[in-house]
Order: sequence, then C-alpha cells, then structure tokens
Amino acid sequence: MRVLVTGAAGFIGSHLADHLLDRGHAVVGLDDLSAGSLGNLALARARRGFSFVEGDVRNRIAVDEAMRGCDAVVHLAARIGLRMIVESPLGTLEVNARGTEVVLQSATRTGTPTIIASTSEVYGHSRNFPSREEDPISIGSPTIGRWSYACAKIYDEFYALALHRERELPVVISRLFNTVGARQTGRYGMVIPRLIAQALAHEPLTVYGDGTQTRCFCAVEDVVNVLLEQLERFGSITGEVFNIGNPVETPIIDLAKRIIARTGSSSTIEFVPFSDVYPAGFEEIMRRVPDISKAQRRLQFDPRVSLDATLDAVIASFNAGAVLV
Ligand SMILES: NC(=O)c1ccc[n+]([C@@H]2O[C@H](COP(=O)([O-])OP(=O)(O)OC[C@H]3O[C@@H](n4cnc5c(N)ncnc54)[C@H](O)[C@@H]3O)[C@@H](O)[C@H]2O)c1
Repeated sequence: MRVLVTGAAGFIGSHLADHLLDRGHAVVGLDDLSAGSLGNLALARARRGFSFVEGDVRNRIAVDEAMRGCDAVVHLAARIGLRMIVESPLGTLEVNARGTEVVLQSATRTGTPTIIASTSEVYGHSRNFPSREEDPISIGSPTIGRWSYACAKIYDEFYALALHRERELPVVISRLFNTVGARQTGRYGMVIPRLIAQALAHEPLTVYGDGTQTRCFCAVEDVVNVLLEQLERFGSITGEVFNIGNPVETPIIDLAKRIIARTGSSSTIEFVPFSDVYPAGFEEIMRRVPDISKAQRRLQFDPRVSLDATLDAVIASFNAGAVLV
C-alpha cells in the first residue's frame, strides 16, 4: 500500500511512518513543519519507500499532488497543544477545520480511504465515564479559546461522516485520547515532556491546579498499531468512529511523583494555579476516560505498553539529546 500521512513530521505521524515502512508499505509524508521536524523523520527519510512533501494541508494543489497514487490517507496534520490553541483559536480553526476539509474533499474526488484523527476533547464537559463513541457531546462557550480545538474536530467528524453518507467517501474516525512517547514536544503544554524536562534539570515540577485531575495515557506504539489495524480492516469499518486510548487513569500528581522517581531527580513539586498559566475563563477538564470496548471487539485493540515503559523511553530520548523546545 502507498499511504499519505499528513502531519508526518509530527509526533504520531513520524512513528506511523516508521511502522508503515517496517511493514513494507510506501509512505508519502506531508507536513508544513510548523510544529513537527525533519529530525523526527530521520529514520524514515533514510529508507526506500518514503517521500516527503513540505506543504500546507489548506493548500488544495499540494494535497491533491501528495494524494495522487495513494491507496489510503491518515490525516494527522493539525494545530494541537493547549497552549497553542488558547493562544491562537483562529489558527486552530483554520488548520483543523479548513485543512481537514481540503484533505477530505481531495479524498472524496479520488475515492481514497481516509482515517481522520479526532480527539477526546470532543467529549467536552461530558461526565459519562468512561466515554463511549455515541455519547452526546457538550463543549464550552465559544468565548473560551480552548474549545476551538474541540469545535473544529467535531466539525471534522460531521463533515467526514456527511461525505461518507452523501458522496461515498470511505472514512474512519479515530478519537485519540492522550497519546505519549518519544518525539512528543512539550512546547505546547504536553505534560509528560514538560515534567520530564523539569525533572532532568532538577527544577521544580510545575503541576497545574491541585494535581488531582486525571488523564489516561496511551503509548504511541499502541496507537500506531491500531491505526495500522484500521488501515488493514478498512472495508469492514468504514463510516465508523472509534475511541483509541488506554483506560488506565493517572492523577497528574502521581505522574509527577513517578517522573521524579524514574529520573532520580532532586526536584520538588510546585502547584501552580491555572489562572497563572492560562487566560481568564480557562476551563480544566478533571477526567477523560475512554471506553475502548468497540476497538477491542472490532480491531482487537489491546493497549499493552505501560506508562512506566513510556516514561523511560521519553527520559532516554531526552538523555540522548531530545530537546523540549
Ligand atoms: N498527541 C495526542 O495526545 C493527541 C490526542 C488526541 C488527538 N491527537 C490528534 O493526532 C494528530 C497528531 O497529533 P500529534 O500529537 O502528532 O501532533 P504534532 O503537533 O506532533 O503533529 C502535527 C503535525 O501537523 C503539522 N501541521 C500543522 N499544521 C499543518 C498544516 N497547516 N499543514 C501541514 N502540516 C501541518 C505539524 O507541523 C506537525 O508535524 C492531530 O490531528 C491531533 O489532533 C493527538
């Protein structure tokens, strides 16, 4: 198979490119390098079967050209990271809504099977734990910048499913929950690389709020494996939505303690009010938990990599020279 991966120079995209190449597929990577880097693609670029196009997913010509001759698309390119989203809701909406429209329209014209990366953020304020794919969605007010990300991704889902029903686009929606591993940047507020960088520098680990908020962290290797499974079983799952995540919940304060222990750091923990980090009106989500029974049943999804193993991999990548910004 020849697969177009948008956002290939990013965290998940570069791991996906490596795994696709491992399985003998050809990969076309499309990325504007706004957040990703060619360094993430060092392994892929050294291999036969990989080609890279520097371009913007909002550019129809660039997308059409990259898609030419591809058998499938995995659309990962997006503005992501709370800090970036809160700072620029406009950029978030333009890339995550309009960019996805361009990719989906191109795929519809060519009938190319497409996986769209959505997010657990679409569950908004939902208090149904664990969250199921068919749960109702209730996001916050448009006056609060963080919700621009969820809003764009919800629109992406509606648009993809409408194209599926009315224009026969073969599409699958993967709602990713927190995905973690080496190559993830801490630049836009991602908690694990940010706290590990602080621990390795023996600086206080800054935990926002009181640290009782929980997150479910899924190793990027597990996420990439299930994306590959979706590509392989595409015909039987088209038009469907899947939660992809690891249901094990970790309070952020526990995460900080584990990072201190695993790095052997002398760091302390410092609690920082959300109001010191984000603009007025910021709304924190205290829990996000995926119900993955559908992915378990239909895709044999079985997230196996432990959080400790992932922390060790990220620590090793920092020790090998990875940088936070
Ligand atoms: N990492 C997570 O925890 C997580 C959770 C839920 C959903 N997702 C989704 O998974 C996808 C990949 O996320 P990631 O963690 O790899 O993020 P990332 O920022 O590492 O990768 C995104 C890539 O998209 C590229 N990009 C941004 N704007 C672009 C544009 N206009 N044109 C072309 N390329 C552009 C960036 O340069 C970057 O390389 C995103 O769609 C994101 O919404 C990720």
